[in-house]
Amino acid sequence: MMRYSRIIGTGGYLPEKIVTNDDLSKTLDTSDEWIQTRTGIRQRHIAAPEQETSDLALIASQRALANAGLAASDIDLIVVATTTPDMVFPSTACILQDKLGIHNSGAAFDVQAVCSGFMFALATADRMVASGMAKNALVVGAETMTRILDWNDRGTCILFGDGAGALVLQASETPGILSTHLHSEGRQRHILNAPGQVRDGRIYGTPFIHMDGGAVFRFAVQVLAESTQEALAHNGLQPSDIDWLVPHQANARIMDATAKKLGVPPERVINTVAGQANTSAASIPLAMDHGVRHGCFKSGQLLALAAVGGGFAWGASLVRWG
Ligand code: COA
Repeated sequence: MMRYSRIIGTGGYLPEKIVTNDDLSKTLDTSDEWIQTRTGIRQRHIAAPEQETSDLALIASQRALANAGLAASDIDLIVVATTTPDMVFPSTACILQDKLGIHNSGAAFDVQAVCSGFMFALATADRMVASGMAKNALVVGAETMTRILDWNDRGTCILFGDGAGALVLQASETPGILSTHLHSEGRQRHILNAPGQVRDGRIYGTPFIHMDGGAVFRFAVQVLAESTQEALAHNGLQPSDIDWLVPHQANARIMDATAKKLGVPPERVINTVAGQANTSAASIPLAMDHGVRHGCFKSGQLLALAAVGGGFAWGASLVRWG
């Protein structure tokens, strides 16, 4: 009886173009020292003008499929988490499905929960696979966040980068994904948003990211730790059972504070933010892929994934590896 899903492959893609903090300081009143001290970020990758979000997703997905030893035709579900879709519609997942050459096989759709989007995509795909609706799912986080940044706003433009990560989930008799716990609080939507709207052929309001950095920081640390505790309690586990914490890669200080609250030592935290900045929904699958490629995760280990983002929306998931 297949009651669970488990991760059988990971893949990631970061665009070739790198912009360092020093590069930014040439046109912006900032410095490498300020950015590194406040965020831990050293550089970010930026998609080429002709690269769409689905193009980043395509490469990450192909790598995840190769890592899983599956062909694209084995996939019968695609869930893409993105805040920066190729277009208003169709979904980036449908575009990705076509670019992967998958036809007449299962569903493809997007979910949107900004930087926590991957947790929502993972929970959706996990439950669909566990219930028998799909056998092999591609769960993708893909973003071109740098396209919705105001490059004159030093409080936000230093924080984000582009990229995509993908996991392949397969139906399994044993877990896999132990459980995922999701939350949203729309009352906090004003502290992080991009309030522009496409209407009557025009953009109304600002299409750029707007943020109250301090409020976001406090909220993020609180809910990342809380939702991880919730997931642990649900499974009768303790923070000391966590072998690897894989947090949303927003900011090194947020990750450090979350790990400290949970009592997870720094060497047990996957941290890719220095080289990639905040890639929004892509950050968790990119961090997972980083962990896999660096041989971090051993069979039987417990991974705690946790993310938070605009909405506000947040969630945590526990994964038994291998
Ligand atoms: N370079 C130099 N100075 C900067 C700057 C930059 N890139 N950005 C802001 N400053 C300045 C501010 O203008 C302010 O100057 P002032 O005191 O003269 O007004 C000063 O630095 C302090 O600004 P403040 O916003 O209070 O800094 P902070 O210590 O809160 O750090 C963030 C700002 C954005 C790094 C921090 O709030 C943060 O990381 N928040 C969470 C953001 C995040 O992760 N968002 C995504 C969540 S999914």
